[in-house]
Amino acid sequence: MTQMEQDPARKGIVLAGGSGTRLYPITHSLSKQLLPLFDKPMIYYPLSVLMLAGLREVAIITTPEDQEQFRRLLKDGAQWGMTFDYLVQERPEGLAQAYLLAEDYLAGAASTMVLGDNIFFGHDLPVLLKAAAARPEGGTVFGYQVADPERYGVVAFDRSGKVLSIEEKPAQPKSDFAVTGIYVLDGSAPERARRIRPSARGELEITDLLNSYLAEGRLTVERMGRGYAWLDTGTHASLLDAGNFVRTIEERQNLKIGCPEEIAHGLGWISTDELRALAAPYLKTEYGRYLARIADLS
Ligand code: G1P
Repeated sequence: MTQMEQDPARKGIVLAGGSGTRLYPITHSLSKQLLPLFDKPMIYYPLSVLMLAGLREVAIITTPEDQEQFRRLLKDGAQWGMTFDYLVQERPEGLAQAYLLAEDYLAGAASTMVLGDNIFFGHDLPVLLKAAAARPEGGTVFGYQVADPERYGVVAFDRSGKVLSIEEKPAQPKSDFAVTGIYVLDGSAPERARRIRPSARGELEITDLLNSYLAEGRLTVERMGRGYAWLDTGTHASLLDAGNFVRTIEERQNLKIGCPEEIAHGLGWISTDELRALAAPYLKTEYGRYLARIADLS
């Protein structure tokens, strides 16, 4: 396999569980990952990241209550040339639990998981993700410099760039580099998740899973440079800021961020006629007219 070819056995996961309590009351009866981020539901963004990485088979993990709404929105994926499977996380017992829930789905395959509330923007994101996926074994995550590392998993590097540690929400962070919510892991992730124990907050921590790779020298942490945007949606204010960021770029360029229909068409997963059919029910909106324009231009 060449460096940039996609491993056909790799599957995608979007983790869209969680109770969203930090955004109450808006998430009281609606999943956080279905909230609007400017012109589209939040989950379109992480799904688009997986699509740009070339992944057509994706499991969507939700709470039991929310699954129906995700199904109504995203269906079985065929409309975008994809296949979606829906898995349930009964209780928010940690991000690493996703690998236990998805164990049968993955059936030994490598995976790329994106957290359903993580918004990424950057020109070379597909290159970054495909290069990570091309590593035959181990795991890859991405370090991104932030002003408030104590809110995240934090990675410390030595002078040569070697990873020294990853700590979950440390009171005294050893660096400004947060671990973003994209996890490119080999097929051993479920088995590793089975070996970790709940943390003090009662969760199977993704950081413990990453540390099991790190302890064996099988973890790569790529820096996601300053030319990328990794946006927070964890508070009312940051959610609005992220929406405004998307609006600013989209209106400036007349191009959309995180538009699955456009990406599917661009990758040849759906035909121009299929794109036009997807646009038809949306033509009262700018979103629908955008899809129609893409179809007309091709
Ligand atoms: C989780 C992870 C953390 C990671 C973050 C990225 O934190 O535990 O390591 O840096 O996602 O969004 P949470 O958002 O669940 O607090």
